Order: sequence, then structure tokens, then C-alpha cells
Amino acid sequence: MKDLKKRILITSALIYANGPIHIGHLVEYIQTDIYIRFLKLNGHNAFYCGADDTHGTPIEINAAKEGVTPEEFISRWWKQHDEDYKKYGIIYDSYYTTNSPENQKYTELIFQKLKDANYIYTKDIELTYCENCKRYLPDRYVKGTCPKCGAKDQYGDVCEKCNAAYSTIDLIDPYCSICGSKPIKKNSLHYFFKLSEFSSKLEDWLNKNNNLQPEIRNQILVWIKEGLHDWCISRDGPYFGFKIPGEENKFFYVWLDAPIGYIASTANYCKNKDFTADDIWQNSDSTIIHFIGKDIIYFHLLFWPAVLMGAGFHVPDNIVVHGFLNVNGEKMSKSRGTFLTARELADLLEPELLRYYYAANLSHTMTDIDLDLNNLENRINNELVSNIANLIYRTLSFLNRNFDSQTSTILNNELYEEIKRKAENIQDSYYNYEFRDSVKEILEISSIGNKYFQDNQPWELIKSDKEKTRRILTDCVNIVKTILILIKPIMPKFAENIEEQLSLPNLTFKELDKRIENHEINQAKIILKKIDPIILKKPKEKDDIKTTFPILDLKVGKVIEVKDHPKADKLWILKVDIGSEKIQLCAGLKPYYPQKDDLLNKHLVVITNLKPTKLRGEISQGMLLAADGGTNVGILIAPKTPPGSNVIAEGITGLELPEVTIEIISKLKMEAKSGSAYINNKLLHTENESILIDKNIEGKIR
Ligand code: 2FM
Ligand code: ZN
Repeated sequence: MKDLKKRILITSALIYANGPIHIGHLVEYIQTDIYIRFLKLNGHNAFYCGADDTHGTPIEINAAKEGVTPEEFISRWWKQHDEDYKKYGIIYDSYYTTNSPENQKYTELIFQKLKDANYIYTKDIELTYCENCKRYLPDRYVKGTCPKCGAKDQYGDVCEKCNAAYSTIDLIDPYCSICGSKPIKKNSLHYFFKLSEFSSKLEDWLNKNNNLQPEIRNQILVWIKEGLHDWCISRDGPYFGFKIPGEENKFFYVWLDAPIGYIASTANYCKNKDFTADDIWQNSDSTIIHFIGKDIIYFHLLFWPAVLMGAGFHVPDNIVVHGFLNVNGEKMSKSRGTFLTARELADLLEPELLRYYYAANLSHTMTDIDLDLNNLENRINNELVSNIANLIYRTLSFLNRNFDSQTSTILNNELYEEIKRKAENIQDSYYNYEFRDSVKEILEISSIGNKYFQDNQPWELIKSDKEKTRRILTDCVNIVKTILILIKPIMPKFAENIEEQLSLPNLTFKELDKRIENHEINQAKIILKKIDPIILKKPKEKDDIKTTFPILDLKVGKVIEVKDHPKADKLWILKVDIGSEKIQLCAGLKPYYPQKDDLLNKHLVVITNLKPTKLRGEISQGMLLAADGGTNVGILIAPKTPPGSNVIAEGITGLELPEVTIEIISKLKMEAKSGSAYINNKLLHTENESILIDKNIEGKIR
């Protein structure tokens, strides 16, 4: 057993209480769960603490949209997360919430300690404020034109086109993404943490800490060299979070109290223990290990250790960083059907098989993992079923049939020792977060077992030497026992099932050294079968198009140019700005909108996921919607909504949808009634207004 300190606290990043767990999140939770199970099976005093990350503007706004309190909203997500973890065998010792009294207590305590040590100051800063929504707008809630490259519809922090970083007040032509109106600049007093004073302490910590992955250490050291900026840790109300003591309408920024949630969850765990969270967090005689994804290293390797140092708390001993998940070699995507929630995947695959696949791909690097569904199928069928499960079943059933389930003594000591050595390597791989190597070597052990069984031909040998055959089978039982112990952190349910068949309950890594001799086993059972190919459904196939599933990507588009069609006198060629790009549309509107100025600068409603077609030689990359009154036609408009904004019809529209065809569109019931537009009886609107009909027309929309 490796000499680790007295108590080991393990955490995973805290998921926002704002959406479901998806297969990308599961990489980390499964990785952490394998590690904690491994430690526990090795007799370490280790515990796994987590929580939902519950604060911040998006949660507050989304709760309001659903008409519930933030507390109700986060408790719903907590329940769903809790169920999903269990489905995947991810078992926390404490799964808590950052909206807890313990978290408030520790957040205030740490803030006070930082203040006492003179690491906090206040400063007036200029921010973006929406007078209509009566709130300051965080990065994600204000959009506009990038001040560097001029790209439209960029968020308030970075430009997705040119990667420039700026603040919300730098955006050109900003608009509030909640209501669409133009925000103002307004001053507000804020609290800052002097991160800049921690450069050398952080460097020191990074250089001395041998556990960290070198690539991470180097990245952080570069950031420190480039110069650290002080960190704003407060937000103005309305905000869902903890109020700053002594303030009326200011709150701690979610990223301050979120990692403190690790401490609060520890406190929750310690409620009925003989030690407290302070024994972990304010005492160096313990080990703290965080598992996180590479997207949040700035927070966990700069802000968080600096805050802990400043407040005199225990700085993490290790931060294990993993890469992102791809599916079939590409980024997860809703339109390809590869953006799967934990629940959706559990309907397609036994969750423990995903644990196996992730383990087989996890190493102590930031390399992205690819969930390649063909590879997954092959690995399960060839490795788990044909190799491991095969060895187990042929061994145990042979004993059942020929020896009344009774083993004798080990025959091949050399083999036994070889397997033991491999088992030690595998343990090292677990300790070093190299689960891929653990899996590889477990498979090697299993192959050795299968070869040994095959080479000895027990079905022949039994005719001449029954006792020797029984001893060979005893060797195999010992290999099976070793495999099941070694795979237990990865596939606990599977391992328990084999324990039951072996009649050896609750095995731990200690029993790797224990010979199983003169022991009676139970009845062998087949518990793993080959799986069929996994077929992902594209969103449009998931449901009947006429009823529940979104099929239209509708956007507000602004007409920026109107031209004659060279070959058709009823068609206009329009150039339309739909935010992310400018597209060309051919529209048969000339009879109803004879002047170019009739259309220029209008904010139209455009179907942007229609397959591009040519209309008499000119490309048309979408379709604008208009109401047809029989004798006159009026376009659908959203005068107050900026181009690129989404037009919504509940259940019918969505983002990133696959292409639709005219045939599918023609099946929808689209109509203009009393000045409003409806698709399948759902009102068409944007975030800030209902879609209007340009002329007073009732009739079909087309
Ligand atoms: O990035 C995220 O999803 C955050 N909710 C992670 C927080 S981890 C910790 F700091 F709380
Ligand atoms: Zn607004």
C-alpha cells in the first residue's frame, strides 16, 4: 500500500444546477469515481465530496423563465443529477449544494480572512447596464460587434472570430441579449482580490508540487509570467448567490463560492464523523485532490490556490486535469445526434460499459478522449466478452460440471507469481491515474488465463489426470479472482456479480495476495453478452416532426441590399444579415413590394436551416416568411429585435438543427391571424417581441 497521508479528500468539479449531466461530464465523474473506489479498496481513508454549483446569473434568469424560484430550480436539478450519478455507479460520500449554510459560512470566513490580511479592496468600475431589464449585464448577456475585428454578434468577453479578449463596455453596438435593447455604461463599486500579489507564491507552489501534470504547470507559469490581474469577486443584484456582508445589493461572484463548495461538502460529510472539515482544510496532515477539466484550470490553479493561501487554508495537493470528450472523432453536436445526456446514453448502453470504455482511454494527460462507437462495440465484444467474461465462465462452469464446484490447490506457482507482479503494476497505474494502462494489463492477465486454459486442454486431461486438472482449474480461479479485484474500481457491479459466483464476497486489493484453495464456488452465470452496434438518432428522427421536435432554425435577418433578379421579374435578390453571416435570398415579393426601399433595412424572419437551392440561376440560402392574404402578401417582421436573434415557436424551433426541406416545411401549419404569426398554433416571437405581420393580412404563411 502506497504511503498516502491520513485522510484523502477527492473532488470532481461542481456541475451547474442548470442542465443535465451529459456524456462529456461523465468522463470526469467516472474518472474520479474509479480513483476513489481504487483508494478505498486499497484501505485508504479516502472520501469523495461533490455538490451542485448553484449560483450566478444564468440560474437566476432560467428559473425566472420557468416561473419558479431559484431554490426550486436548483433542487430539481440536484435530484436529477443525483439519480444520474447513481445510474453510472458514481457514489459520492457527500453530494451537497453550494447554496448551503456551510458554504455561506466558509465563504464569509474566507472573505473576512482575506480582508484582514489586506488582500481585498474596492474600486468603482464601469459596466454595461440594461435600463429595460434593470440589471448589469454579465459577459454572456450582452452581445455586439467585436471592437477588434468587427465581427457581429459576439459575446461581451471574447470574440469567437478573432479570439480578442475585451470587456462588455468595449463592444460596439451592444445589445442586451435578454431584451434586445441598447444598454448604457454605468459605474458600480466592486470588490477585488489582489491576485497580482500572489505571483511568486503561486510560482513556488507550482514548482515544488511534483504531482501536477507538467503541461499544466508550464501553462500556469506562462500565465503568471504574463502578469496576473486582480480579480473582481462581487456582482450587483439581481443575482442568485450570497450577499456580501454589509452590502445591500452586492453578492459574491459564483466563482468565489463555487470552489469553497468543496469545503462545505466536506463539512457536510464530517457531520457524523470524529473529525471536521477544518481538519482537512486547515491542516496539512491530509491530502486534497481535485479532478477537473482543462477548461477551468485558470480558476483551479490560480484563483483557488491564491484564495486558499491568502486565507491560510490548505492548498490542494494535486489537481488532475483531463481533456474534452469527442464523439466519433468530432465535437459533440446536437445536430449529429452526438450530444447525449447521461440518461439518453443509458438507454443505449449499460452504464458500466461506458465506465469500462472511458477507463480504457483515460491517462494522466489533457488529451481529448474519443468516444468512437465502433471502437466501443469492438472493445466490449472482444475484450470484455470474448476475453474476460469468457475466461470467467469457462473456468467456473468447468468446475461446476466436473468437480462439484470444488477447487483444490494451486499447481503453477510461477504463473501465480507472474500474475501477482502484473497486479502490482496495475495498482501503480491506478495510483498514477493511468487507467488506460490498468485496463491494458488486466486484459493481458486475462489473455494469459485463456491461453493457460486452452493449452492445458482440461476437457482432455480430465480423462487421464483428474486431480491435475482440478489444480489447473484452481490456477484459473485464482486468475479470475485477481481480474475481478483489479477491475472492481472500473466495473463494480460486474465485479460483485463474479464475487457472488466465486462465493468470495467483498474482496479488496488485500486479497490479491491471498490464494484461493480448497474453496467451493457457486453456480457460473453468463452476465455479459456481446452488444449490437449503437445507432445514434439524429434529432429530426427522434420524434414526429409535426408534434414535438424542433425542426426550424428561425432567425431575425436584416435586409442590407436589394437587387433585381436578372432572369425573373417577380423575384428580388436580397442580401440578409443573419448575425453570424450574410446570406442571399430570392423572394417572389416584387408584385407586393415594388420598391427596393420597401424591403431595405427590414428585420425579417428567415428559416436558416433550409437546404440552399437555385432559383433561375441565383442561389437562395434560406427562406423568408410572409403571410399570403390571397391578393396581397405581407412579410413577417421583428422591428425591435437585432439581426441574428432567434425566433421562437415552442417545440418547433431550435438551434443547430439539421437541414429541413420544403416538403417538411409544407407539412407545418403556418398562419397569420390578428396581426400575429403561428406555427402549429404556437406563437412566433423573439426574446423581446411577438413577430408582426408587415401589412394587415390574414392567411397562410409561406
Ligand atoms: O465550469 C463549471 O461547470 C463550474 N460549475 C465548475 C465549478 S468547479 C468548482 F470550482 F466549484
Ligand atoms: Zn435587457
